[in-house]
Amino acid sequence: MNELQLHTAKARRREVFSRCARSGALSANPNPFAPSRLRGGLLLLLFSAACGDTTLFDPMERQPKFRAFSANSLYEDGRAMRQPPAGTVPREAITMRPEITTAADRKGAVIDTIPISVTRELMDAGRTRFEIHCAPCHGLLGDGVSPVATQMSLRPPPNLHKIRNPSPGHVFQVISLGFGLMPSYAPQLTAEERWAIVAYVEALRRSQSAMLAEAPPDIQKKLREEPQ
Ligand code: HEC
Repeated sequence: MNELQLHTAKARRREVFSRCARSGALSANPNPFAPSRLRGGLLLLLFSAACGDTTLFDPMERQPKFRAFSANSLYEDGRAMRQPPAGTVPREAITMRPEITTAADRKGAVIDTIPISVTRELMDAGRTRFEIHCAPCHGLLGDGVSPVATQMSLRPPPNLHKIRNPSPGHVFQVISLGFGLMPSYAPQLTAEERWAIVAYVEALRRSQSAMLAEAPPDIQKKLREEPQ
């Protein structure tokens, strides 16, 4: 008999019964089925609940499986739990800096800054991702002018520069979790890509009301030379 079979329903039930018997929980009624089936069944339910056996309520738990931290001779290291491949980090891992994957600090407050460094590469990645994943609905400029918006009568994708809460943390959470009619884009975009989009949306917003004097000198010169 292998270890898997050991964890079948019967073995587990026996285990629970002997544990209960040892703890004295069954001694009040040594044979719960004898006097009356109904009363016995009820008592059994109560006892099993008292002993923490939830398999009676949740049949999904009654299946062959390895429990966390149990042994498994199939693997060389004898452990049922497998180690993640060396050097990998789960996409949504809560790291020492939860704000990077959740946009909320350790106390759960939504942050209003971008927690990773905003570089030219990040901006470029943000632009590419935005134009693939967001622009079809929110428009290339993020202003809500898009073919999809003209077709959606119920709740068209809004102008991203006019939303009530434009804080980077909020926008990150909207992309990660979805918002009303808008689905989550977490399966398509890593946390870093989502921050890249947030940074690019900020840039788009600023670009909509930028003063000429704010542009770099060479761009200013080029724009001044353009015919009015
Ligand atoms: C399929 C169309 C669609 C796509 C693609 C889409 N959105 Fe949206 N988005 C919407 C709609 C519709 C709403 C309004 C939802 C509502 O109010 O029910 C919305 C709302 C928002 C809001 C406003 C939340 C608020 O506080 O009012 C933000 C920010 C946003 N989207 C950002 C993005 C970003 C960034 C992307 C790209 C990753 C994106 N959206 C992709 C349709 C879309």
